[in-house]
Formats: sequence, structure tokens, C-alpha cells
Amino acid sequence: MESQGLKVVAVDPHDATAFRAWHDAATAGAGADRPDPPVWSYAEAAVSYQRPNSSYRREVFVALDDGVVVGAGELGLPLRENPQLAMFEIDVPPERRNRGVGSVLFTYVTERVRAEGRSSLLTEVSVPDGIDPADWPGVRFATRHGLTLRNTELRRQLRLPVDSLHLDTLASKAAQHASDYRLTSWAGPCPDEYAEQYAQLKARLSTDAPLGEVEYEAEVWDVARLRESEEQTIAQGRTLYTTIALAPDGVVAGHTQLAVPNDDSARAFQWDTLVLPEHRGHRLGLALKVANTRELSAAHPEVERIDTWNAVQNGPMVAVNVELGYRILEASQEWQRDL
Ligand SMILES: CC(C)(COP(=O)(O)OP(=O)(O)OC[C@H]1O[C@@H](n2cnc3c(N)ncnc32)[C@H](O)[C@@H]1OP(=O)(O)O)[C@@H](O)C(=O)NCCC(=O)NCCS
Repeated sequence: MESQGLKVVAVDPHDATAFRAWHDAATAGAGADRPDPPVWSYAEAAVSYQRPNSSYRREVFVALDDGVVVGAGELGLPLRENPQLAMFEIDVPPERRNRGVGSVLFTYVTERVRAEGRSSLLTEVSVPDGIDPADWPGVRFATRHGLTLRNTELRRQLRLPVDSLHLDTLASKAAQHASDYRLTSWAGPCPDEYAEQYAQLKARLSTDAPLGEVEYEAEVWDVARLRESEEQTIAQGRTLYTTIALAPDGVVAGHTQLAVPNDDSARAFQWDTLVLPEHRGHRLGLALKVANTRELSAAHPEVERIDTWNAVQNGPMVAVNVELGYRILEASQEWQRDL
């Protein structure tokens, strides 16, 4: 695709030189002016884009100006549920902005998405805390290209280690309400004995975490999908730390999961936390997160910070995170439009 001397071309993630140039531009664009941006390392990205995944197909592309990479984009196509949906991201390094690069990449996105027979576009815009969203380039861009704001999450960060007395206080507070439950933790893949139930917990996140006005179908998980996602995580060089709560009858009532990238071991990322509806109200969310934070710090004393994302309307989850000591860094807005 060409416009005003700018050209957009697909990038082969197996072509190391081309993929490196894509990654450099994507990282510079996505991270600009943000606090401690949570961008993927080259190695993590390479695995994600090179490995086939039966749930999700990714494509990457760059904008070229006279052969020089001036912007980067990606498209993500869910393959099981959400057949109408296409997730996208467009990143332009600050020194290349305000010349139409982002718009040319957006036109390419719409052409590719139409060619795939899909009709809904979804993207995320991160706005640092304290910035007026109306002045933020990503918000202006999404608005100008016809997307509307559907949901807002806040990205919070916890500095580690958390004072052990504080963790003790929170753990005993939670235990007063959750004394019938037993917590157990592991590193790496889910033990076989819990895999069936655990796959169902993974699926629940797509229905139980508040999505605001985002149009997104429920995910269907089985053990094969769980194992594939674990293999992908291991291939990316991440270790998962998981804590589950077991009810007296052996039901896995809830879980929480942290991911540590091996090539950036100063940080960790919160993945799912979920308690089944019939087991809510026992402070299991707090109990799980306290225990998992302890497991992580014991295994990785070098981890200095954990990032987490929660919808602003997710009162119970936000309350747990605030009690633990998480502090707001930025908003993570979800923007969507029909094509
Ligand atoms: C959002 C982002 C992709 C925009 O990239 P960009 O290349 O600056 O986009 P464009 O140049 O097409 O448009 C930006 C502005 O430049 C203006 N513009 C476009 N061509 C221009 C030109 N030739 N001369 C002057 N201004 C121009 C546009 O009208 C637009 O103005 P506005 O902000 O007042 O609406 C970039 O800021 C970015 O990478 N942000 C971080 C990631 C992100 O938030 N991405 C969006 C969600 S996927």
C-alpha cells in the first residue's frame, strides 16, 4: 500500500533484520512518554509472532519512507471465538509523528481486516496518569479514525518487596473469612490434577472481568488450549507463578497468576485473578494475591515491581490491589469501532 511516498509492507517475523526494525519502531512508538512502559523484549516478541497459535493469529507490518522504517503495526485475529473481531496496534516513534504515518498504517489495517472478512476493530490506548486524555496523541488518533471509548482499565504497579508485616496483616485479615479454603501454589504449568478445572477458570475471565461496552464474545477453554498457552509462555521465556484456593470439597474456587519474563527479571506481570461467583465474599482474592506475591518474592527476590490492569468499575479487585499497595501509573483505554 502506498500514499504520499509512504508505503506499508508486511513483515516476516522469521526475517531477523526486518523483524528487529519492526520491533525497534514498535517499542519506540508504544513506550514514548509513558511511565515504565511494559513493552515486550525482542526475544519475547519473536516467539509470539513466529509460533503458530491455534487461538490467535498475528501479523506485523511497517510503514516505510524511502526504505526507512517510520512506523510499526500489528493485527491480532482471534481464531476460536470472536470471528468478527480484529485487534490492532499502531506505533509511530515520536520523531516520525504528525506526518500521516499513523493514518497510512490505519488504512492498511482496515484493508487487511476487510480482506479477512472481519467487521470490528479493537485497540488499546495507554494514557499516563495526570495527562488530560484529550491532549494525548493516541486518544486524538483513535477519535479521528472513528473509534469510540468502550472501557477504561487502570494500570497499577506494586513495588517489591512488600513489607512482610503488612503481608502478614492482610493474610490474617483474609483468613478470618476464608478459613475453610486451602491455598496451594506452583511454578510453571498447572499440575494435571487441576488442569480441567483450571481451564474453566481461564475461560471465566472473559465473561467475569468487566469489559464495559467492549464487544467481545466469551472464550471457550479446554485442557488442550491451556497446555498450548503454557507452552507458548515457556517458549517466550516467562515463568508463571500460580496460587489456587481449594474449597473443602476439592473444587478449585479461585486462582491468581503472575508472569516473570526471564530476560527482564526486575519485573513481573499480574495475569488473571478470579474467584468463582459462588465462592466470592470470603476475601479469597486478597488471600490468593498475598500468597502469590510471597511465592514470587521468595523465588525471585530480584523482582522489583509487578504491573496489573483492572477495569475502573471492578471495585472488589481494585480494593484488593490498593490494600496490597499498588499505585496508579496510567489508564489503559479500550477503543472499538465497526468497519
Ligand atoms: C497515535 C499515533 C499512532 C499517531 O501516529 P502519527 O503518525 O502521528 O499519526 P498521523 O500523523 O496520521 O496523525 C497525527 C496528527 O498529525 C496530523 N497530520 C497528519 N498528516 C500531517 C501532515 N502531513 N502535516 C501535519 N499534520 C499532519 C493529523 O491530522 C493528526 O492530528 P491530530 O492529532 O490533531 O488529530 C502515535 O502517536 C503513537 O504511536 N502513539 C503511541 C501508540 C498509540 O497510542 N497508538 C494508537 C492506538 S493503536
